[in-house]
Amino acid sequence: ARVVAVLTAAGSGSRLGLGYPKALVAVLGRPLVAHAARQLARTELVERIVVTAPGSHLDEVRSAVADAAISVPWEVVAGGRTRQESVGIGLAALAAACPGAAPDVVLVHDAARPFAPPALVARIVDAVRQGYSAVIPGYAVTDTMKLVAPALDAAGTGPELVAGTADRTSLRAVQTPQGFTWDLLVRAHAAGEERARSEETAATDDASLVEAVGETVWVVEGDVAALKITTPHDLAVAELLAAQVLA
Ligand code: CTP
Ligand code: MG
Repeated sequence: ARVVAVLTAAGSGSRLGLGYPKALVAVLGRPLVAHAARQLARTELVERIVVTAPGSHLDEVRSAVADAAISVPWEVVAGGRTRQESVGIGLAALAAACPGAAPDVVLVHDAARPFAPPALVARIVDAVRQGYSAVIPGYAVTDTMKLVAPALDAAGTGPELVAGTADRTSLRAVQTPQGFTWDLLVRAHAAGEERARSEETAATDDASLVEAVGETVWVVEGDVAALKITTPHDLAVAELLAAQVLA
């Protein structure tokens, strides 16, 4: 089965707040996008990687991926305004790169999860190959989860109201890479694009687009090493863990 990947790296990193794209932030002397590309390539399962980059930093992302010296063919394309748009653009680039024979399996992975281990990538690909056509990594949450309603004061900055408590045993925090049969993800994205035009909504992961077309999504065990770097705190944690998780 032919496996390809979209590696999303077109975000601005506004919550990290460094003033340049998150994918170019270095940990252990290497930009996050380069770590992520290497982790995908290390599996030797992926045949082609399309990286989405901020239009303003195409050259910087290209040289970061080139420095990663991966053995898998790759290209960098300008992403979209939302993650969903970026993945759609990545899928189109993969389709164009594979004329005639469409890929069988597609992974979507975030450069914001630079240390996702090869074993996790392999677990996702294996499950898709076994016939689970949409597979995502997840882990049980440990905090108690509340639903909240907005604060009541005029400024909206006071305490929020608790509207309920979720049943933690049925909640999973989900990660990337997410894996899909090619045809299913392409169909889910086409439907999602249609909705985005009329409703101005964008999905924060690809599985939710598959859910929206009524297809089943399956969860397999995630990995703490696939942590997402969003805030300065996450980056500090990633720096502490990097040497260990890349060993
Ligand atoms: N992403 C993308 N295209 C966008 C927005 C996000 O490819 N228009 C990618 C990011 O580069 C990241 C992943 O989607 O790898 C998850 O997004 P997130 O963690 O939100 O990253 P940023 O959007 O860069 O961060 P922020 O929301 O804090 O600005
Ligand atoms: Mg974002």
